[in-house]
Amino acid sequence: MPERNFAVRPATDADRLPLSRMFAAVAEERDGIATEPPVDVEARAQSFDLAGTFVAEVEGEIVGTLHVEASRFGFGELGMAVARPWRGRGVGTALMGAALAWAREQGLHKLSLSVFPHNVAAIALYRRFGFVEEGRRIKQFRRASGELWDSIEMGLLL
Ligand SMILES: CC(C)(COP(=O)(O)OP(=O)(O)OC[C@H]1O[C@@H](n2cnc3c(N)ncnc32)[C@H](O)[C@@H]1OP(=O)(O)O)[C@@H](O)C(=O)NCCC(=O)NCCS
Repeated sequence: MPERNFAVRPATDADRLPLSRMFAAVAEERDGIATEPPVDVEARAQSFDLAGTFVAEVEGEIVGTLHVEASRFGFGELGMAVARPWRGRGVGTALMGAALAWAREQGLHKLSLSVFPHNVAAIALYRRFGFVEEGRRIKQFRRASGELWDSIEMGLLL
């Protein structure tokens, strides 16, 4: 992978399709995010709520995204993904930095997220930003394989 720099910015309408394609590629891994294939790329592209969505971009290519779904109750639910070739290069860290600044600007008091227990890279990233483990949901997610996966609930007071 050549050394190319990424930039983080709020998502726009033009990002919908590339974002959806990246999301579908991460879903193919059947590992880090809850969604599994098949992903209806067109439908998913239209369904994204762009408010609270950030993208990491390299020369016009979307290589990462993070979404905060702000609730009416002061907390935001966070989800994120980075394209596999770009992991471990600080993209997730930069997205999280942008999201935290945005969430504070919005006046949210807390960010929450769910993560699979085996997702050590994600958990390490969240801990580094101060997220703490608040609980574990047992056999919460039924996978296409039939397996039932726990999730760890994490939270960060802003
Ligand atoms: C989780 C994810 C978003 C992180 O994005 P990223 O761009 O790789 O993140 P960064 O490069 O900024 O940082 C990754 C951190 O994880 C650490 N890490 C990576 N692999 C690790 C491992 N196997 N064990 C422990 N820590 C690990 C890195 O060391 C780095 O921390 P550091 O900077 O302190 O060294 C990315 O791995 C991803 O998209 N995974 C698939 C989708 C997913 O799991 N999304 C989250 C769902 S809850």
